[in-house]
Amino acid sequence: MPQYNPKGSRSLELHLKGLKGLKGLKGLKGDKLASRVAVQGKQAKPLVYEKEKSLSEIVIFGAGGHAVSAMNVAVSAGYSVTAYVDDDRVGGNIFGIPIVSQDYFKEKFRENCVCVAIGDNSVREKIFSDLQKNYENIFFPSLVHASSVIGLGTTLSEGVVVMPLSNVGPNSSIGTGCIVNSRSNLDHDCEMEAFSSLAPGVTCGGGVTIGSRTALSLSAVVRHDVKIGSDVVIGAGSYVHQNIADNVVAFGTPCRVQRTRTRGDRYLA
Ligand SMILES: CC(C)(COP(=O)(O)OP(=O)(O)OC[C@H]1O[C@@H](n2cnc3c(N)ncnc32)[C@H](O)[C@@H]1OP(=O)(O)O)[C@@H](O)C(=O)NCCC(=O)NCCS
Repeated sequence: MPQYNPKGSRSLELHLKGLKGLKGLKGLKGDKLASRVAVQGKQAKPLVYEKEKSLSEIVIFGAGGHAVSAMNVAVSAGYSVTAYVDDDRVGGNIFGIPIVSQDYFKEKFRENCVCVAIGDNSVREKIFSDLQKNYENIFFPSLVHASSVIGLGTTLSEGVVVMPLSNVGPNSSIGTGCIVNSRSNLDHDCEMEAFSSLAPGVTCGGGVTIGSRTALSLSAVVRHDVKIGSDVVIGAGSYVHQNIADNVVAFGTPCRVQRTRTRGDRYLA
């Protein structure tokens, strides 16, 4: 854990000013003393610590609504969020944590824990795989909010985010980069393939399989043992009682296929 030294804190204003110009941090004394902003609980506080890198620090890719929720989980899981990366919002901040550019990330955070907090499943997969390709020493920890329950024998692959008040039942498998959103409930023996997602309030019975990049929207309910294919969008409030093929949008109660879709088509407009 980094040793915090609040006495030596620079002001947040000065810190953000430095980050805005990107070169502003170069005036600091090398790697020995780096200024960062960390979050402790719900309060943003400027802090200074001596260790440049630590596995208890995390950088969040994205600075939209989902990134704020991911930050909330990261803090609950014991991480200090040091920056958000979003080229369109550089210079802003969320809870006092600066938003920086990808170039700045490249310069300062080559060895770091990262959370890719992008709601769209295909976009999240693309950013995740680009980061894996381009950086050898970044890590994608799984983040589980302290209020959620992970069952016995369940595995979480890297980069999974489990939001508050969720239950992932025993003997389940959650693939790389999946999102289990707030108050969702996945029963025993379920499988979520890589980069799939459950929106808030989704309920799945036991033995459900969800294909890669598939999105279950708000409060959808899936009957036990149903298999939903890859690149599917299930509409909000649907009851899915039978298997669903790949590459479709389906909704309603009971859930019916409405149209086909191509991998990567936007669905969170
Ligand atoms: C599945 C979804 C993407 C479909 O969106 P869409 O194709 O743009 O559909 P539209 O809004 O154009 O609606 C087309 C028709 O389908 C109906 N419809 C759309 N979604 C429906 C749903 N989930 N259940 C029942 N009917 C639905 C609309 O009422 C409309 O009917 P009409 O033609 O008789 O007026 C959208 O319903 C959805 O669920 N989005 C995700 C929301 C979500 O979970 N957000 C939070 C993420 S954390």
